[in-house]
Amino acid sequence: MPDEFFSPIFDNKTPSTYRYFDGEQWRESESRKTIPIISPVDNTIVAYTQVVTEKEIDAVLNHAVVSQSGWENTALNKRVSIMHLVADWIRHFQDYLTVLMTREIGKTHDEAKGEIVRTADLIDYYAQEVQSIRGETLDSDNFPGFEKGKIAMVEHVAHGVVLAIAPFNYPVNLSASKIAPALLMGNSVVLKPPTQGALSALHLVRIFEKAGVPKGVLSAVTGVGNDIGNYIVSHPNVSMVAFTGSSDTGLAIAGKAAMKPLLFECGGNNPAIVLPDADMHTTAREIVKGAFQYSGQRCTGIKYVLTMPNIRDQLLPLIKDAMTEMVKAGDPRSLETKLVGPVISEDAAIHIEEVVNEAILQGATLIVGGKRTKALMEPTILTGVKPTMRVIAKETFGPVMSFVDVASVDEAIQIINASEYGLQASVFTKDEGSGIVVAQQLNVGTVQINGSPQRGPDHFPFLGVKHSGVGVQGVRYSLEAMSRVKSVIINKPQ
Ligand code: G3H
Repeated sequence: MPDEFFSPIFDNKTPSTYRYFDGEQWRESESRKTIPIISPVDNTIVAYTQVVTEKEIDAVLNHAVVSQSGWENTALNKRVSIMHLVADWIRHFQDYLTVLMTREIGKTHDEAKGEIVRTADLIDYYAQEVQSIRGETLDSDNFPGFEKGKIAMVEHVAHGVVLAIAPFNYPVNLSASKIAPALLMGNSVVLKPPTQGALSALHLVRIFEKAGVPKGVLSAVTGVGNDIGNYIVSHPNVSMVAFTGSSDTGLAIAGKAAMKPLLFECGGNNPAIVLPDADMHTTAREIVKGAFQYSGQRCTGIKYVLTMPNIRDQLLPLIKDAMTEMVKAGDPRSLETKLVGPVISEDAAIHIEEVVNEAILQGATLIVGGKRTKALMEPTILTGVKPTMRVIAKETFGPVMSFVDVASVDEAIQIINASEYGLQASVFTKDEGSGIVVAQQLNVGTVQINGSPQRGPDHFPFLGVKHSGVGVQGVRYSLEAMSRVKSVIINKPQ
């Protein structure tokens, strides 16, 4: 059944070659070039993806523009029904998609399944929430100096064509979190999936197609990010860019996108402050979860803990205990493996190992881990890390957690606010009032009191400041961001 459902998207060779979706048909590119997708699990080729040409991108975007107004004028209840059908199909294929995702990006079986089920729930929620998005009317005489006589009719209308650029770490969820709200608000969408993760994302696109998204309204183009990315981002037919990925790539895209509206989720590099009165057991468990979930490859991962040396010494044994219970690094296909599988590629693992070794050379102490076998990096803890060391000065996208010694909470706040990142931060304390006082001084999008950073629940606002993002996501916020306000003003004859 899955093979039949998904058959148009790849050929029947082993390994197969995937096609791109021009909005109407699954095609091979006339470039005749493909990219091998190498599994970080066993280093085998999972499949190949197409490298599309600029001419093909032009055709896809023209089709997206032409199809958009018909889609925006399609009854909302029809768009909502299509989304519910997408969610149903995703649930139906969850086991198949889990196996594929685990092999493609090395996410552990349970985490991959969690991503897929969460995606179905998210799409249902968008479809429900969109029905409460309404316009309004405003009267002129509310403003000083104006009489009655003007009425503004304010509506939410589509941007046009939304370019959705998704990352490797949530190839299904972070594609759907852009595609679904954009479509529900009447946009057409061109998806640029991650290079690694493209296979999972292309299956998602096929589900949208089968659920009834009309021709041209959703398409997916594959290729090397830098090559097609630059071309597509600055393309005049793209009206808005929704992107998740690293801060460096985000900055480059923002430069190219010029005055297009942006919705960006970029690097996190999230800190946690542990106050002396924190419940150390809960704190240790939250830190372990925050640091090692999906091998530390989450923009919401905890990357460093700021606390006084005596608190650090209390925490470390509890963290080690929690790691024994909660983490088991290994083959992500095995149900025994918990939280830590291989990172996305051997090159990524080599980089992580390098920055860990560099920190040690600069004076940090290795407490656990630090070794690498191919793409599998051991869960690693360092102490004595300084904010200038590369391991935390830049986001290290892997299972590495650093302790930074501070003499006071004020020093911790200063360090966090001096960072180029500002996604989330955690504050651990039994006194929620003190937690709020600290939270109010942190220049980040969200502060979690007594919990590790995370995006969910997905209807909460999710945003980064500084190099961590632009705009606000979260179900209602994303729907609003995927539309713009348009007003029509009726001037009554005097
Ligand atoms: O990596 C970025 C994701 O948006 C993080 O989502 O907090 O659910 O893992 P998560």
